Amino acid sequence: MKISVIGAGNVGATCAKVLAEKNVANEIVMLDVKEGVAEGKALDIWQSAPIERYDAKTIGVTNDYVATAGSEVVVITSGLPRKPGMSRDDLISTNANIVKSVTENVMKYSPNAKLVIVSNPLDVMTYQAYLSSGLPRHQVIGMAGILDTGRFKAFIADELNISPKDVHAMLMGGHGDTMVPLVRYTTINGIPITEMIPEDKLNAIIERTKFGGGELVKLMGTSAWYAPGAAAARMAEAIARNHRRIYPVCVKLDGEYGQKDVFLGAPVVLGKNGIEKIIELKLNDAEMDLVNKSADHVREVMSVLDKMK
Ligand code: NAI
Ligand code: 2OP
Repeated sequence: MKISVIGAGNVGATCAKVLAEKNVANEIVMLDVKEGVAEGKALDIWQSAPIERYDAKTIGVTNDYVATAGSEVVVITSGLPRKPGMSRDDLISTNANIVKSVTENVMKYSPNAKLVIVSNPLDVMTYQAYLSSGLPRHQVIGMAGILDTGRFKAFIADELNISPKDVHAMLMGGHGDTMVPLVRYTTINGIPITEMIPEDKLNAIIERTKFGGGELVKLMGTSAWYAPGAAAARMAEAIARNHRRIYPVCVKLDGEYGQKDVFLGAPVVLGKNGIEKIIELKLNDAEMDLVNKSADHVREVMSVLDKMK
């Protein structure tokens, strides 16, 4: 079993390291356009194998797609990250060109791969990969919801001084300020979160989550990578191992939630075919309203991409 990671930058290399440590595939290929970078990072990860005790082999290549041939899952992280003051949407034209050419190359050698897209603006880059791959929607899956719920859960764990393992949450919408953390579906091992945290504090946590990516860009001068890399690896693992995990991911909606032809975060079952099923939650009017607003925003950015073509 082979998994390829395109882009050996911060997120790509972290994702490859997590995949290797968990022995998710016996071969992990990293590819980058920068001469030597993927080779060097792959060698470094391979040299951690005797120390961390795993045997997944990591290989790095410079733009050589032959090495990615026959990948079960391809994680696409190639593209520019945000700098302070930039929104994810500011990256659209540069990253769309990168994602287009990468996807076309990937498809030449792994025509039936499941694609996990990470590049930003996420929902629209997932759309771009869908267009340029020609794959069915269940094989083109955007990573954002696991990261965004990860941030939400971490802030809740801090507030309650409890283990993040006991926090369960679901979130919908686009990967941006319009994302919709779903309070009604958030529990501490089954206990409704509203019984544990007062409304004003919970609202503050929701706001911090929505701007969680920006908080890190401000601190580091570039965007996050540990949690994003781990989140992408989780998705690749669920697919490669047919775990049938329920995760929020970015998916093309085709009537679900009353939305059509828009790439939006929603809960799905992830397994060997990619998206095995889209779960339709019974949202109330207020929640539906927020999801619709988020879909409207994503549609606007999708139309920017459409006009560029
Ligand atoms: P980075 O700059 O560290 O790495 C990007 C890598 O892509 C670089 O090594 C670059 O050489 C490579 N690259 C550029 N063009 C390429 C091409 N045509 N083919 C192969 N490789 C190419 O950036 P980082 O931090 O790893 O972020 C990567 C992307 O992921 C950015 O667009 C960022 O905004 C996005 N991101 C998305 C998240 C999400 O939740 N969906 C979370 C974090 C980052
Ligand atoms: C994040 O949320 C920038 O999308 C990236 O960290």
